[in-house]
Amino acid sequence: MSAVRVFQRLVNTYLGAGASDRLSRYVYDGAYSLPQWQEISTFNYGYAPCDDAVAEGWPNEPHQIQLYAEVAKAVQAAARAPEPARLLELCCGRGGGLAYLDAALSPRATIGIDRSLAAIRHRRNGNAAIAHLQGHALQLPLPDASIDVAVNVEALADLPKLTFLAEICRVLAANGIFAVADTMPHGPEACHLGLIDLGRKSGLEVVSFRDITMNVCEACRIDDQRRSELVNRLPRYLRPIAREWVSLPGTTRFGQFERKERCYFIAVMVKNAARLQS
Ligand SMILES: C[S@@+](CC[C@H](N)C(=O)[O-])C[C@H]1O[C@@H](n2cnc3c(N)ncnc32)[C@H](O)[C@@H]1O
Repeated sequence: MSAVRVFQRLVNTYLGAGASDRLSRYVYDGAYSLPQWQEISTFNYGYAPCDDAVAEGWPNEPHQIQLYAEVAKAVQAAARAPEPARLLELCCGRGGGLAYLDAALSPRATIGIDRSLAAIRHRRNGNAAIAHLQGHALQLPLPDASIDVAVNVEALADLPKLTFLAEICRVLAANGIFAVADTMPHGPEACHLGLIDLGRKSGLEVVSFRDITMNVCEACRIDDQRRSELVNRLPRYLRPIAREWVSLPGTTRFGQFERKERCYFIAVMVKNAARLQS
């Protein structure tokens, strides 16, 4: 287990989940405020290989945007309407991925929500058509049934999953779609079954599940030089934690992906209005 996880467990055990939540908030706020990392618009592990259009259009962070491209493909495969009317990204960070989704899915309205003001401010004026709101994923500042497609990239694992999914279900319209990309410390089958169970309890039905662990592992490997360079811009005392965070080859997290002890997946869930009524 990585030093970061051990530390998180200790905080959870002795100070409670609320303290762990606050700690995670400070860590993200700190990272988003770093002057050394201002040019980055995404914070995720990435996906390889990249489509030509993504590699050409986003040369600074092609793998991170490609992860969003794979999520967009999963949404399109599950969607009944070709273009969603209202798109929401939960925990959108600085919003680089949301800008990609907005261009790829052409919704009528696009909203990004993150609790980090530093992240929200970063993209405030990036695309005037996209609303960036500060808010908590477990108490979304949105009315019931107001969203057609909700997306989350890499926050599910850090949140109380059932509460998070129930809140997403609340804001989704009937037959609305939720697409999620994240990692869990289990094999693909256990992750898939776990999501089906969580979905059943929260009113969401899993309609597709794709294990992309090897694509994520490959992205970490190919992107090693760029990530190392970002880590080396930081003060020395932060570098060991940052290496783990970006999953450089040789870190605990990278080894878990490589040995398939941890699955990275893209899943799509649909709000099952009929089941919720029964
Ligand atoms: C790994 S980053 C991913 C950011 C973005 N999806 C991306 O791929 O670039 C996780 C994000 O979740 C946000 N987050 C974590 N807990 C949250 C919560 N309870 N409510 C809203 N945002 C949260 C963090 O501020 C951070 O921006």
